[in-house]
Amino acid sequence: MSRNHKLLVKNAKQVVLICNNGEKYLTKHGMNNLSVIENASVVIGSDGLIRAVGPAETIRARYSESSFDNVIDATGMCVLPGLIDAHTHPVWAGDRVHEFAMKLAGATYMEVHRAGGGIHYTVEHTRAAAASDLLTSLRSRLQRMQRAGTTLVECKSGYGLELQTELKMLEVIEEARSSLPINISSTYCGAHAVPKGKTVAEATEDILQVQLPRLKELMSAGRLQVHNIDVFCEQGVFDLVSTRAILQAGKEMGLNINFHGDELHPMNSAEMGAELGALAISHLEEVTDEGMVAMAKAKTAAVLLPTTAYILRLPQPRARDMLDAGVIVALGSDFNPNAYCCSMPVVMHLACVNMRLSMTEALAAATINAAFALGHSDTHGSLEVNKHGDLLILNATRWEHLIYQLGGHQEVIRFVVIGGNVV
Ligand code: NIG
Ligand code: FE
Repeated sequence: MSRNHKLLVKNAKQVVLICNNGEKYLTKHGMNNLSVIENASVVIGSDGLIRAVGPAETIRARYSESSFDNVIDATGMCVLPGLIDAHTHPVWAGDRVHEFAMKLAGATYMEVHRAGGGIHYTVEHTRAAAASDLLTSLRSRLQRMQRAGTTLVECKSGYGLELQTELKMLEVIEEARSSLPINISSTYCGAHAVPKGKTVAEATEDILQVQLPRLKELMSAGRLQVHNIDVFCEQGVFDLVSTRAILQAGKEMGLNINFHGDELHPMNSAEMGAELGALAISHLEEVTDEGMVAMAKAKTAAVLLPTTAYILRLPQPRARDMLDAGVIVALGSDFNPNAYCCSMPVVMHLACVNMRLSMTEALAAATINAAFALGHSDTHGSLEVNKHGDLLILNATRWEHLIYQLGGHQEVIRFVVIGGNVV
């Protein structure tokens, strides 16, 4: 008998849809009113897209179990959309465990950076690494993320700071995309630091005249996929003027603007990003009130990164003020050699405890709003018909266990499903 559906997840105690009216993002009110159905089932078609979600009885009446390749009985379990990690730096060689010790002893992030460590240390090791070694470590990091429930992840370059290594990183991301089930949004971050021996003006010139034009050629020839452009806009890194020039050039190539702003110092990054129509700005520990208003108006998402403030003992981003101002708040792990965290459940936990998000706000921030920050909320981020069949099945009768059990995802997440396949 012909089977025409891939997966039935039946009789779940709760199915957390997130939203069900086609919303592309949620602001504070919507984030606190997530759509949840009790005793429900989900149908994923042979194309890997969601065909139906609804009360178990309705689905039972409409679909015969024999038409499915795979049936999961989720009695006593919860189903929710796959998590989306809106900010990571996962391609690099050479860990920085020694710098963790320095920071614990009191060194600041910028002290380590100025002393030639930090990003510079990673750049040196990443330039020297073979693409095959970078791919092996990237794959294992992405698999760890996947096991912790991430089904769509943003991946940045940015440890090359020159054409050859930046391309090597982007190509490695591309290879990971084609060989792993996890969905990837890829970001060119050639302006992650000013390379040693160069001025900001020289580095900006190299990006504008050498790196971006080559990227454009490869993208138009269909030899490389890149979705977003990023710059680290910070004192002692890229100032506002050079950041604007680089982001603008990326936008003209069709890339989404998604950059690091207002992290260690107030730079008016938020105001500038909103003016350029940025899709997202990350960090924002030092954003101004005016910056928040501008972001809310421009619908520029704030990607908050609880691991960074935690590890660097920075002031927390003012998440509550952003929510009150109507900003679209999303979350990311910021996985990088400074913030070694592959787990969005840990990120959501930190966001709740340290940034005072409610659990429903944290879940919306790690699903529909993170999808929006990557320009993918038409297809990802909620359990709605025709969206990708990416979901988690939890071994718990309430979905909140995913956040409540700190570091407990191994026990809580029973299945991770991407495109209707259990991975
Ligand atoms: O988002 N702030 C700049 N970039 C990263 C850190 C990268 C690194 O230290 O290697 C961040 O925290
Ligand atoms: Fe970052």
